Amino acid sequence: MKVTKADFIISAVRPNQFPEDGLPEIALCGRSNVGKSSLINRMINRKNLARTSSTPGKTQQLNYYLINDDIYFVDFPGYGYAKVSKTQRAAWGQMMENYLLEREPLKLVMQMIDMRHPPTKDDIMMYDWLKHHGLPVCVVTTKMDKIPRSRRAKHAKVIKEDLGLRPGDPFIQFSSEEGIGREELWAVIAGYAGL
Ligand code: GTP
Ligand code: MG
Repeated sequence: MKVTKADFIISAVRPNQFPEDGLPEIALCGRSNVGKSSLINRMINRKNLARTSSTPGKTQQLNYYLINDDIYFVDFPGYGYAKVSKTQRAAWGQMMENYLLEREPLKLVMQMIDMRHPPTKDDIMMYDWLKHHGLPVCVVTTKMDKIPRSRRAKHAKVIKEDLGLRPGDPFIQFSSEEGIGREELWAVIAGYAGL
């Protein structure tokens, strides 16, 4: 995919702020710090359009990015971040659930998992929830560059097994640092978005 244009559109906190043009939307969800914002930057080859941070919990709204005037990436707040208050977590949870269940232009959820570790309970719950509701999911493992080559296949196997990856769900091994997996992921996205 040749990205010629990428714009930050809005940090939405309410559905009436979502775009109304009906363009396909791809949601990114995963734990805080898993690398969601970094993945967006790598996919569009820009250093800092999506704000990244070593402090987890930075992304607190649904952040919309428009790419090539064709498709939106929707960056979700990370789940599993302990320092966020219960009330706030409940509010995000409700907003994300409504979005995932009701958003008509949503074409694919990229569920991101840190490749260095087995999936957490939250990761497994999230994946089960998405599948229970019949949502199309692509599992993306992040920070692949941090794992020695000789151990990557083992890590991938553990993640697939622990998640119970459903047949047919794409599984992409990714590194925002090195750009591994970028073309493969664009091909998956283009397929689901009908680009
Ligand atoms: P929240 O917005 O807090 O939910 O986090 P996020 O999922 O958007 O994570 P973010 O992209 O901000 O990345 C978190 C940290 O991980 C940053 O320090 C990134 O530089 C680092 N990081 C993300 N992806 C990679 C990767 O592929 N390789 C390496 N080595 N570091 C990465
Ligand atoms: Mg982020």
